[in-house]
Amino acid sequence: MLPQPLAKVIPRLPQGLLYGGDYNPEQWDEATWEEDIELMRRAGVNLVSLAVFSWAKLEPSPEQFEFGWLDRIIERLAAGHISICLATATASPPAWLARLHPESLPETSDGVRLSHGSRQHYCPNSVAYREASARLIRELARRYGRHPSVVLWHINNEIGCHLSTCYCATCEAGFRQWLRDRYRSLDALNAAWGTAFWSQYYAAWEDVSLPRAMPYTHNPAQALDYRRFMSQALTGVLTEEIAAVRDIAPDARVTTNGVLWIKPVDLWECFRHCDVASLDCYPDPANPLDAAHEAAVCHDLYRSFKGGQPFILMEQVTSQVNWRPVNRIKPPGQMRAWSLATVGRGGDGVMFFQWRASRAGAEKFHAAMLPHTGPDSRVFREVCELGADLRRLARVVGARTRARVAMMVSWPNRWALELEAKPTTFAYEGIVHAWHRPLWDAHIAVDMVEPGADLTGYDVLFAPALYQLTQQQADGLRAFVQKGGTLVLGYFSGIVNESEHVWIGGYPGLLLDLVGVTVEEWQPVTDEHPNHVRFRDGFESAVGLLAEVIHARGAEVIATFTEDFFAGGPAITRNKVGRGTAWYIGTQPGPDGLRRVWDELLSHAGVQGLEVSAGPGIQLDLRHGQDDTYLFVVNHHDAEASIDYRDWAGCHDLLTGAPCPADEMMPAYGVRVLTKPSLSKELQ
Ligand code: GAL
Repeated sequence: MLPQPLAKVIPRLPQGLLYGGDYNPEQWDEATWEEDIELMRRAGVNLVSLAVFSWAKLEPSPEQFEFGWLDRIIERLAAGHISICLATATASPPAWLARLHPESLPETSDGVRLSHGSRQHYCPNSVAYREASARLIRELARRYGRHPSVVLWHINNEIGCHLSTCYCATCEAGFRQWLRDRYRSLDALNAAWGTAFWSQYYAAWEDVSLPRAMPYTHNPAQALDYRRFMSQALTGVLTEEIAAVRDIAPDARVTTNGVLWIKPVDLWECFRHCDVASLDCYPDPANPLDAAHEAAVCHDLYRSFKGGQPFILMEQVTSQVNWRPVNRIKPPGQMRAWSLATVGRGGDGVMFFQWRASRAGAEKFHAAMLPHTGPDSRVFREVCELGADLRRLARVVGARTRARVAMMVSWPNRWALELEAKPTTFAYEGIVHAWHRPLWDAHIAVDMVEPGADLTGYDVLFAPALYQLTQQQADGLRAFVQKGGTLVLGYFSGIVNESEHVWIGGYPGLLLDLVGVTVEEWQPVTDEHPNHVRFRDGFESAVGLLAEVIHARGAEVIATFTEDFFAGGPAITRNKVGRGTAWYIGTQPGPDGLRRVWDELLSHAGVQGLEVSAGPGIQLDLRHGQDDTYLFVVNHHDAEASIDYRDWAGCHDLLTGAPCPADEMMPAYGVRVLTKPSLSKELQ
């Protein structure tokens, strides 16, 4: 089934692309609200996220609700034709909850109870927190659930950010129950956790504890189960909030704002419960190309969470954040370029934190749509210009991305891979980014998939560092290759099962036959101990992270290592299986090596980049609409860059209203959105 456009999923959504930001009117007097609405209209804002941190203002003491101020601002926004994504307001509980229920505060692994006074100070398993949240949400839903301007609900805020673990007594009891449900018996738990090791055997459930601060390395299976348990607890916070909204307003549409690749919460699971996926994205403008690529990876992920349905960029910053040690501003044009690149990659909404820069509090130096200086400012002018651009792109809404290439990403795999006590230190996100980068540079669309996903329609599947692998997942990969797919399996894959038990008999365990190699050992690659891969034509490329000692068992060797006792041994191989091919990448090649391998395997698989000639750092994305195809061209460089438009020369540019030249030097942060009639109805 094709992904639904947002307007079908969220019936009352404003027309066109969504534009706006977090709006915190409780920080301002009502005279300022008038100015806010007038300026929002000037900027083209059509959606605000309201009341994200308003709990204390809405319920200053238990069950004493004060909705008057919210009524008034909602009516003013409605009168200004600005729609509302209403928050459940639960991310920062009021002081009275901490006073009346100190056990609702989270506890660290060394037993420290955290205090009220910042935000996200709640234990996700706290009954008091969950009950008080649900009570507030029901009141909100009763009052605003049918309001025509409340088009979407913003559930909690950035779940798992700042607060992702708790080691209190409630969590411990919850963890034990969770383990009983999972394993049914202590024997099964002992087997799964490998407790024959270090005398960790359990003879009574009450001895099973949380992985608190310990003298040395944790039991990895216990640590992994704790991650699973906490991810489910955090997701449970969301699902209970969604249930509370829908108890009262059954037709309510919901989203939550995920933070990039946040580690503690399995976002695949989290977004299954939402109608639309929303992203908060704050890459560092200090490294513009890396930042633009980081955002592109996230766009691919958030578009994929709902099977290709457009996502909403719920938060980004207009210029400068305040939470890095050093906070660069976004130079003129960059905010526009990044925003339009988001639309190009499948976003149907561009929103900011926040509308008006605060006067007080911890974020007063965080840029906003309306800076302290007021409307006569560079940032506000750019905000208004972006609003106008988005209106010009209204017809792009609902158009979709089509990718023949997929990349497998899994939260449980990441948790397991990043546990301590490995041959080297792995950072999954960095590995996925490195594997994705040559695809971005080559303008090749990529979807993300989770293990077990339906791979129909994909020709190439990249599976970097798929350390944890189950029999079922291995069978899925094998079937994909048998049917003609190209699998690109990375180093340190297929090592353990879901309980951190090694698959014995050589790595990658269950996939030995598929890749046609056996990995025997792993040698970390460091500055002191470098290594290279040499291709058959003599081309050499430096590698990083680790180099595997590999024996070819039927696979063709594409490149070999040049150093260490296994010099001359296979580093990169490919194996024909059924109608497809399984590549094995036994090290982390540098950008030039990766590009070379990716080019070769993609051309074998018949996957090509777009027919526009532009170098890396020029982002090219296609969106396929009902009748038209849109090409987004974004120059992420801080300098002009040359582009040859080939087939797209002469096409209409939605941003300028003029035909596109045959070629040009596009200015720094330049953007074009070109359109032509759809090439193929089959893409719809
Ligand atoms: C997000 C958060 C916002 C604001 C923003 C600052 O994490 O949801 O409320 O704090 O960061 O960049």
